[in-house]
Amino acid sequence: MTLPRRLLVTGGAGFIGSAFVRRMLERHSDLTITVLDKLTYAGNLANLAPIEDDPRYRFVLGDIADAEVVDSLAAEADAIVSFAAESHVDRSIEEPDAFIRTDVYGTFVLLEAARRHGHARYLQISTDEVYGHVPEGSSLEEDSLKPRSPYSASKAGGDLLVGAYHATYGLPTLLTRASNNYGPYHYPEKVIPLFITNAIDDEPLPLYGDGLQIRDWLYVDDHVDALEAVLVHGEPGETYNIGGGNELTNLELTRTILERMDKPMSLVRSVPDRAGHDRRYSVDCSKLRSLGWSPAHTFDEGLDATIRWYLDHADWWRPLKSGEYLEYYRRQYGDRLAAGTAVE
Ligand code: NAD
Ligand code: DAU
Repeated sequence: MTLPRRLLVTGGAGFIGSAFVRRMLERHSDLTITVLDKLTYAGNLANLAPIEDDPRYRFVLGDIADAEVVDSLAAEADAIVSFAAESHVDRSIEEPDAFIRTDVYGTFVLLEAARRHGHARYLQISTDEVYGHVPEGSSLEEDSLKPRSPYSASKAGGDLLVGAYHATYGLPTLLTRASNNYGPYHYPEKVIPLFITNAIDDEPLPLYGDGLQIRDWLYVDDHVDALEAVLVHGEPGETYNIGGGNELTNLELTRTILERMDKPMSLVRSVPDRAGHDRRYSVDCSKLRSLGWSPAHTFDEGLDATIRWYLDHADWWRPLKSGEYLEYYRRQYGDRLAAGTAVE
């Protein structure tokens, strides 16, 4: 299979979706991409500024749960690549409604449109969080789903619909489950960009609980390359795990960020933990590696590039840390930081 030439990319103004759009247009001269994005707090047209004048790219403001808009755009596409989601666990704990509407119902609307228009591929971008907490070993694609937050439960709902549309209607679906991404253009409320930008300003870094939760860090461009490999070489109906191979505790991660930035550990505050906080995720990526993919960035390289990007792009992130962001920050961290303790 070659890469479908007319892509409808949902959520393309977010962190990973915009990296996909920028990289695919750079790499493939005969590709056209329509981005459908609702521009929630996490969506940002500045993420697409590098390609905004490219005639092969078009932006449409809209909701994946709006069947009319989705249908008209799907009619002009060969494939859907869907990043659109509410993606932040902490926000799902505070207000789950939008997660169910976008991540479950929105996925259904997209699948219906792909089915109606006989698309060559439907690629759903999902997460390792659907497997739930993994005390030891690594999750395989056929493992049972045990999501434990409203975010991961709504993503799991979307995943199950994707599987059902392949089994029932023969839709040529592909499903990927990636580990924690990091890199440029990452909205500064997820842990790495939050900690880097707070450290730049000598503000406290709120580390949840004992900081011994483990995440596997994947550089965003490596994720995008994996998605391209799956679109071209993936088997319809199959699921592919994508991991960076960089499992770290949050405490190790925080220490490394501060060391690289030459900032003191005294900035870190241990704050009350996230409710239902999964201790560890880990995915086995052998299936994807058999398609020829492996990550091109070491964690050290990726982290240095990311820190450098935030130091050089205060014009991108400073405006985001205002208005609604500050209200969210106060709700999320005000009491927690007041109750926080020092970390050695
Ligand atoms: P993000 O929050 O940065 O971006 C999400 C984008 O979707 C935003 O541009 C937002 O405006 C858009 N959106 C939200 N609701 C929408 C709707 N109803 N209709 C249209 N657009 C809508 O998220 P991200 O980190 O780029 O994640 C992208 C996808 O990858 C998500 O599906 C997420 O579950 C998955 N994922 C993320 C990670 C990670 O570490 N960030 C890891 C694995 C999987
Ligand atoms: O595993 C993939 C998932 O990674 C994606 O599906 C999600 O979309 C993405 O947001 C991310 O989820 P996490 O919950 O792992 O990411 P977050 O950056 O919110 O948190 C990473 C870890 O850091 C987690 O163990 C919680 C911790 N943390 C987070 C924040 C925001 C802190 O200790 N303090 C914080 O302030």
